Amino acid sequence: MEEIEVLIDEEEIGLKVREMAKVIAREHKDEKEIYFVTVLEGARRFSDDLVKEIMGLGGFKVKNYLVKAGSYGDGSESSGKIEVKKGLVEDVCGKELIIVEDIVDTGLTLCFLKEYLLKEKKARSVKICSFLDKPSRRKTDVNVDYVGYEVPDKFVVGYGLDYGGRYRELPYVGVIKG
Ligand code: IMP
Ligand code: MG
Repeated sequence: MEEIEVLIDEEEIGLKVREMAKVIAREHKDEKEIYFVTVLEGARRFSDDLVKEIMGLGGFKVKNYLVKAGSYGDGSESSGKIEVKKGLVEDVCGKELIIVEDIVDTGLTLCFLKEYLLKEKKARSVKICSFLDKPSRRKTDVNVDYVGYEVPDKFVVGYGLDYGGRYRELPYVGVIKG
């Protein structure tokens, strides 16, 4: 098994998620409900923690829709081709959505999903909340509304992020050494 160098430890992750939850809650305090769209599989863990924190603040109703999209196969290089692998079955027409993503790399996935939710699913608006951001690799000008941490141009794993199905369960974000 490869050695992993810790980039963001468990405690830092917890604090950051709490901080992000507070910002989102503050900006949506006048809304009856907050609608998240979590991008499977990678963002599931972040989204669970984020929703838990927001619920803990009290006074919010939250819906967390799940969507599966991706450009990645089993490795670490994007094929560049995005597809919705499991679409939304729920009606989100006219709703203000927040996409929850694990990491924005080229931005192709989020660009594609934003279009899908706006054009095909007729959402009123779509914001983006990503735990990690790798701006050095961006190929689109997609705007990320809420970001946890910027990471360098390295393949990161843990806290939901995988490398060929491995390392998702790590409680920290790290880089595979070597
Ligand atoms: P994008 O379309 O290039 O922005 O890619 C986004 C998706 O690629 C993310 O949702 C991740 O699933 C995956 N990805 C990009 N960079 C990494 C990484 O460093 N580690 C793990 N997954 C990554
Ligand atoms: Mg992802």
